[in-house]
Formats: sequence, C-alpha cells, structure tokens
Amino acid sequence: MIIAYTSLLEKLAKSIEGNFKLVPIITKKFPDGEKYIRISNNVKNEDVIFLHSMALNPDESIMEYLLIIDALRSMECNTITAIIPYIPYLRQDKRFNLGEPLSAKVISYLISLGINKLVTIDPHLHRFKDLSELFKIPCINLSAIPLLVNYYKRNFDINNSIIIGPDIESEKLVKIAANILSLPYFIFEKQRISDKEVIVEGEIKELSLKGKNAIIIDDIVSTGGTISKITSILLNNGVNRVDVLVSHCLLSEENYKKLKEIGLNELISTDTIPNPFSKVSIAPLISKVIGEINDKRSN
Ligand code: R5P
Repeated sequence: MIIAYTSLLEKLAKSIEGNFKLVPIITKKFPDGEKYIRISNNVKNEDVIFLHSMALNPDESIMEYLLIIDALRSMECNTITAIIPYIPYLRQDKRFNLGEPLSAKVISYLISLGINKLVTIDPHLHRFKDLSELFKIPCINLSAIPLLVNYYKRNFDINNSIIIGPDIESEKLVKIAANILSLPYFIFEKQRISDKEVIVEGEIKELSLKGKNAIIIDDIVSTGGTISKITSILLNNGVNRVDVLVSHCLLSEENYKKLKEIGLNELISTDTIPNPFSKVSIAPLISKVIGEINDKRSN
C-alpha cells in the first residue's frame, strides 16, 4: 500500500512514514493559471491512499484532486482511498433560490469520480443526514470532537460548564462532547438570513446560566456570525466565560478580532484548515484510520 499526498498534507504524511511507501505529488502552475501535476512513482497494482486537502482555495484544489485521480488511475493502481479532512461546498445542501446549484451533490459527485472509498472528518450534514445520501461509494466519517474535547479537558477547568450547540445540525457533535465531559447541553435554533447573518432562538430562560462557563461546539466557523450571535446571547444571560471548540475553522483574523471584542474567551480548532487557532492536530485520527484500512487489507 502506498500513500500519495499533496504538499499541504506533507507533515501528516511524514507522521505515518515507516509502514507505508510515501509518494509526493509534484504540482506547479502554468503561466496561464492552469495546474500541472505529476505522480512521482508508478502505482501499478498498488492500493493507494490519497491524502488531499481541499481547505484552502477550494476551487483550485478540487481541480487538482480530479487531475491526480485521473493520473493515479492511468497507471492502473488497484484501489484508491481518498482522505479529505475537510470537504467544502457541503453547506449549500438545498436550492435556496431559483437558479442556484445543489453544491453538496456536485462536490460529492466530483469527489466520487474514480475512487473506491472516502474518509473525511465532521462533514457538514444537515439536509443530507448521512454521507450515504450523497455518496454511492463506502465512506468513513470520523469526528475530531473527542480530540478537541480531550485537549480542552487537559487545559481548562470544566467545572460548572455547559455544552452549547448553535443549531440542530450541531446536535450530534454536541452529544459526543457532553458524553465525554459528562456535562449538560443546550441546542439553539438558528435560522440563516444571509451568508453573514443569522437569527438565533431557543428558550434559554429556563436554564440557569448565571456564572456558568459555556463551551460552544460546531463543525465549521466561517464568518463567525453564528458564534458571535450565540456568544452575545450567552454573555447577556450571565454566562461567565465562552469558549468554542470547532472541527474546521475558516475564520479570518479580522472576524476573530470582532469575536474577541464581543467577549469570546478562547477559540480552539483542529488543523484540517491551517490557521492560528489550530491547537489540535487530526494526525492521530488519520494515522489510526490508515492503520485500520491496512490491517483489513492484509487480513
Ligand atoms: C452551519 O450550519 C454550520 O454548522 C456552522 O454553524 C456555520 O457554517 C458557521 O458559519 P458562520 O461562521 O459563517 O456563521
């Protein structure tokens, strides 16, 4: 079995070096902006695990992905398992207005082309409840929440805390966190007005939040609009400290500053999207799943 990887995941690939043959993929840009790629080894008859990041510049990395899959297939590899820690375009899971695409379907169709299996982490699943509704190939859906929560437990006081979910989509992740930390949880009801604006509802009056610490759990922080609304509500209701644990963080420095001004204490994310808040690495999750895939193959 060999592992092919693009430069963004070099660190991760190196951490699993030893049991597998690593194959770096050469990429460069033509003067006109088009991508050139080349797989540096022959992968004929190999079971390939392809680590690819779609985190930064999603459109470009999707094209890069398609070219790499074609190149791997052209060398007659045996199977391809794609590991894509963050899948973009899943949030447009409905045609909200006439003339819009169903982006979640488009991205799942493109990712599926030519691969045998997909591994990903905390994909945004709302109207599509499960990856099997989007993909016809077998998928492994990992969660980074246990890693985030255990980091939090090691570094913060969790006494007198409550877990908060910003919306119904977050409930699955919130329950994982509440279970590990043995803490109560509350889920808000969110309605998105535009890409930057949300309305949040929920009968928090019955909850005694005064003096508590709140830990917000979510799959994605993008503009920070959701976290900003929830943080304000919590602080206005007597919460002492608000922290956020998030799997994929796309937040800009500017929007982070706005969250700090509102009173957010700490934002902690994984490194599926490299950023200053990536305090928890997904490397152990990826190494484990690669080991399991390899064991299954050799049995
Ligand atoms: C959407 O439902 C997701 O779970 C996140 O809550 C959302 O994508 C966050 O986006 P933003 O930071 O732009 O509010």
